[in-house]
Amino acid sequence: MVERTFMMIKPDGVARGKIGEIIQRIEHKGYVITAIKMVRPTHELLAKHYAEHLDKPFYPSLVRYMTSGPVVAMIGEGTNIVTGWRMLMGETNPTLAAPGTIRGDLGREWSGDAIKNIVHGSDSITAAEYEISLWFS
Ligand code: CMP
Repeated sequence: MVERTFMMIKPDGVARGKIGEIIQRIEHKGYVITAIKMVRPTHELLAKHYAEHLDKPFYPSLVRYMTSGPVVAMIGEGTNIVTGWRMLMGETNPTLAAPGTIRGDLGREWSGDAIKNIVHGSDSITAAEYEISLWFS
């Protein structure tokens, strides 16, 4: 099924000069980027985007990480892209993410506070539509 998802290159991916490589991997897979912009996320936007993490102990450090620089926000389109993009990203923790995935190949920062993992992808079609409406309102 052709789906849409919300994809993001997080501040560490931008700061380390990985925008081109990440977009190349998306396009090599055959996904189409239908919208793209560089944004500095606000606290308000992050509170909505990470609503499920608001009460987690790592939330303050997650916000510090996500406001540390600009991010690249994208809408992707393709067959089963919600699952497929999460497969391309790899597991949340870059140390455990399989080689061949974006996080497995490019991710290296794991600290005691927020996990810095280069990219984001919606975890369901419902979440994708919600996140697209937040970031591309
Ligand atoms: P992501 O899965 O894209 O969205 C939630 C983010 O919170 C996640 O990436 C990490 O950056 C961070 N995160 C998730 N779980 C933890 C954790 N246990 N400790 C620290 N940071 C986390």
